[in-house]
Amino acid sequence: MTRVLMVFDLPYAVKPGYDFAEEFADPDGSYTENDVYQALLECGYDVHRLSLFDDVRPLLDAVRDVNPDVIFNLCDTFHDVTHWDKNILATMELLGIPCTGASSSALFLCNDKALSKKILRFHRVRTPRFHTFYRGHKVWLPKTLKLPCIIKPLTEEASRGISQASIVDDEASFVARVEMIHERMSLDAIAEEYIDGRELYVSIIGDRALRMLPAREMTFGQMAEDEPRIATYKAKWDDTYRKRWGIKNHFAKTLEPELQKRIADICKRAYRALNLRSYARFDLRVTAAGQIYVVEPNVNPCIAKDDELAQSALKAGINYPSLIRKVVNQALRRKG
Ligand SMILES: Nc1ncnc2c1ncn2[C@@H]1O[C@H](COP(=O)(O)OP(=O)(O)O)[C@@H](O)[C@H]1O
Ligand SMILES: [Mg+2]
Repeated sequence: MTRVLMVFDLPYAVKPGYDFAEEFADPDGSYTENDVYQALLECGYDVHRLSLFDDVRPLLDAVRDVNPDVIFNLCDTFHDVTHWDKNILATMELLGIPCTGASSSALFLCNDKALSKKILRFHRVRTPRFHTFYRGHKVWLPKTLKLPCIIKPLTEEASRGISQASIVDDEASFVARVEMIHERMSLDAIAEEYIDGRELYVSIIGDRALRMLPAREMTFGQMAEDEPRIATYKAKWDDTYRKRWGIKNHFAKTLEPELQKRIADICKRAYRALNLRSYARFDLRVTAAGQIYVVEPNVNPCIAKDDELAQSALKAGINYPSLIRKVVNQALRRKG
């Protein structure tokens, strides 16, 4: 029987043999882990679970004790640091066990919102024009950028640090927002030209043969037309706020076949350019004129049953356990 070690992060350490009952039952807690765990069991694997917080030794111990055929990697952070997910994955790679999802080098490239865009632009994939502001240097409005801009942390996820105030229309608020990210969040910042348009989420699965899954879209209901319609932290995660404004995530309607084809071509080109594998999700903006911008490539995006990728897979006829089995098989075929 294939032995799967499922590794994920928790914001605290637990003792060996911990049962995760509380975390896995909590709809705001380890719900992705719970979904994947149930699916792995349903697929008939011999599943072992390991959570990591701020110490890598439990990983070494578990690999020695369990001797897994494959690691199902669900680590998003290490010691609460978002971009240390790549360091944990790199450690798994050193142990020679095949891991699901992206490689540590893809995590490294895509966690940095500027670095991934530099590569995409080289491959002629359209992305918003941008400028990076590292901490400890002077902040100014570069002549190369046209206002309005959106100011974001360079290396964050899940819209942390993104609100309506992230959209800036003059130099003073531009500088103030960059400084807020430097000082209050202790992170480097990226300023991007604001792209007005539809917000699409396009998932791709595959290693050699790539498959684009049906596109999802966030729509902004009653939000005033002159308000920036973006996926802020609240728009993604605050149910009361979403209800108040009629913000919804659903399958993208009325995508002309020609546009759909261009989207697939662009996302596949981006996937290859960044040397992605297994599964990924692209956050796109599509303008009224039909220009497609890649705003963000997400490697190892959320794979919970209710999230975009699994919903898109289901629509394409791949039910949740099949999706999880596919991801495990991709890793097993790679052998390290
Ligand atoms: N250049 C941009 N133009 C328009 N909207 C943007 C731009 N960059 C980000 N956004 C909006 O902010 C959201 C979050 O930005 P993103 O770069 O995807 O960060 P995160 O990693 O936090 O998801 C996007 O889904 C989009 O709605
Ligand atoms: Mg995003």
